Amino acid sequence: MLFKKILPLLFLFHFAFCIEAKAQSVSIDTLHKYGIYDEDRLSPEFHKSRRDELRKRMSPHSAALFLASPEKNRSNDVNYEYHQDPNFYYLTGHVQPDAALLITKEPITIGGIKTDEVIFVQKKDPAREVWTGIRLGTEGAKSVLKFQVALLIDSLSSIMNSIIPTLETFYPSHISSSKHYIDSLTTLKPALINYLNTDLAQMRSIKQDEELKLLRKAITISNEAHNDIMHTARPGWAEYQMQALGEYDFTKNGCEYTGYPCIVGSGNNSTILHYETNRRKTEDGDFIEMDIGGEYHGYTADITRSFPINGKFTPEQRAIYDLVLEAQDSGIAEAKVGNIFKAPHNAAVSVITRGLLKLGIITKPEEYRKYFMHGTSHYLGLDVHDAGDYKPLQERQVITVEPGIYIAEGSPCDKKWWKIGCRIEDDILITIMGPEILSRFSPRKADEIEELMKH
Ligand code: GLY
Ligand code: MN
Ligand code: MN
Repeated sequence: MLFKKILPLLFLFHFAFCIEAKAQSVSIDTLHKYGIYDEDRLSPEFHKSRRDELRKRMSPHSAALFLASPEKNRSNDVNYEYHQDPNFYYLTGHVQPDAALLITKEPITIGGIKTDEVIFVQKKDPAREVWTGIRLGTEGAKSVLKFQVALLIDSLSSIMNSIIPTLETFYPSHISSSKHYIDSLTTLKPALINYLNTDLAQMRSIKQDEELKLLRKAITISNEAHNDIMHTARPGWAEYQMQALGEYDFTKNGCEYTGYPCIVGSGNNSTILHYETNRRKTEDGDFIEMDIGGEYHGYTADITRSFPINGKFTPEQRAIYDLVLEAQDSGIAEAKVGNIFKAPHNAAVSVITRGLLKLGIITKPEEYRKYFMHGTSHYLGLDVHDAGDYKPLQERQVITVEPGIYIAEGSPCDKKWWKIGCRIEDDILITIMGPEILSRFSPRKADEIEELMKH
């Protein structure tokens, strides 16, 4: 009922903001020609199904607003590389900035069209597009992303002004750094402000077939990069040269981004969990911990392999490696439907504690934390540390299993163990048949790594 009051207003907006864009239609063929929106992207039907699922979880008389990631200036005329917000991408498929998505629980009428979702996009601007590339515009949002109603982002504030007072619950965007954030939160407050983070996290943690296809692709490309590096690198290479080869393989195979900054630590740097400097030159005898993953159409791999730069494990490196591998195997075995999220971690801790005691590296069980100081698993998907509710494991979730042992120089143990940082990380799909190691195409056993590294 309340929505009816704003109908004439919305009708006007439609004409004020859409007519200009209609003259400049953008088809999917045009976008393919410009290399935007690959043919194997997530389908518009996928994104629509996610919006429908989210709408089911919203309260009566509510609306939710999602904003695109803002562009971030690096300095002067140069911005940081643009990356869409994963929630916004999940719900729309739109990869450009200055955009918003409105989802309403009950249909509203805009320009004579009854709808429960509106996408707001940048105005087409030939002068700007010469510099920064083709914009989708409102017609492109309809033809490519298959939205029934698309408006210009300039109309966001007026539309929100009209809608918010009619609501019982409003779910604002979580991106408060966007210049559109204030526009979207007018002084006219609804009865209740709430958030959909938990619902979105639950939804995103259960992967649909289309998502799994892209995730498998990102992971397979990343496996190839790991194998290439292990096969090619040798003592004297700088850490950044291994990074360069990995990033080359990602890009060559179609990844748009790395899922996170590449971690290539040699010698003592291998003991720094998220080392990203990657400037050191390796020396014969160094142990390498390499955590790199490419991102393909939004979905990222997260894989770590650890290996000796000269291709031959020392007895100490092998002892630590085999212990981490045993811990990982026990962790993977626990990645089963219904197990608590920490089951893989608990299994890995028990193996590592027992092993460190046996090797004499620790003398009391609780000391394992000195050398294994992080969790074993996180969800994986559109974010490397993906959204999820950390409740018992479910079918179609993807998690990492990544135990590690990090013995920095100066640690309170025999110095023969120093400068060995070893993590083995794989990406696991939870299925009713048991765990599937999606990243199985890079060797995990020490002997297999030595075999791959033979020049
Ligand atoms: N690459 C970051 C992590 O393994 O969690
Ligand atoms: Mn990880
Ligand atoms: Mn990782």
